[in-house]
Amino acid sequence: MDFLRFLKTRHSVYDFDKTRVSVRDLRRILEAGRWSPSCHNTQPWKFIVVKDRKRILRLVDCCTSAAFAIPPPQLIAVVLDKTCVDISNVCAPNVEHGLLDAHVCCGTAAMSMALMAHALRIDTGFLTPNPVIADKLLEVPKKRKTVLLILLGKERKGAFRKPKTRKSMKDIVCKERYHA
Ligand SMILES: Cc1cc2nc3c(=O)[nH]c(=O)nc-3n(C[C@H](O)[C@H](O)[C@H](O)COP(=O)(O)O)c2cc1C
Repeated sequence: MDFLRFLKTRHSVYDFDKTRVSVRDLRRILEAGRWSPSCHNTQPWKFIVVKDRKRILRLVDCCTSAAFAIPPPQLIAVVLDKTCVDISNVCAPNVEHGLLDAHVCCGTAAMSMALMAHALRIDTGFLTPNPVIADKLLEVPKKRKTVLLILLGKERKGAFRKPKTRKSMKDIVCKERYHA
């Protein structure tokens, strides 16, 4: 399939059936995250695989905009490792910038995992958790923060889907310098 078409056929899913992702596929998804690029190759992330039903329900519950979600049997919590700025400040002028970079890195890894899942015909959805609650549920230590949940599974038949829209190219692409 043409790569652009492949990208366009991915969509966020929030209503899953009970299908579990195989260990092999889960491993491939995690490998895709592991091989993602990162600022100064700091790899400022941990990926927590969560399969415990109660924990999944609590995690999804702490995402403010997820009241409509029917959670999957597994998810990956992406945890940002803020200690990357202690170890290396080479690629950022200050700690604040370093942390922004680290967030971008986690986003990159998350997208790699979502696209790997899509290639394996596994559906994904993104949810932004309340980091204080999620960190507690996942026993995340200090200087780390749960930044994203990647829901993984199979979309339930007849599930509600948000309309897939995008801004026009004209609205987002500039030539040479920023213009409105
Ligand atoms: C970093 C990130 C965080 C997101 N957080 C949420 C969220 O908290 N709740 C939600 O309903 N969707 C969330 N989404 C999904 C977006 O709403 C979705 O990607 C967007 O509407 C475009 O739809 P598509 O993924 O189907 O192309 C998030 C997406 C990203 C990339």
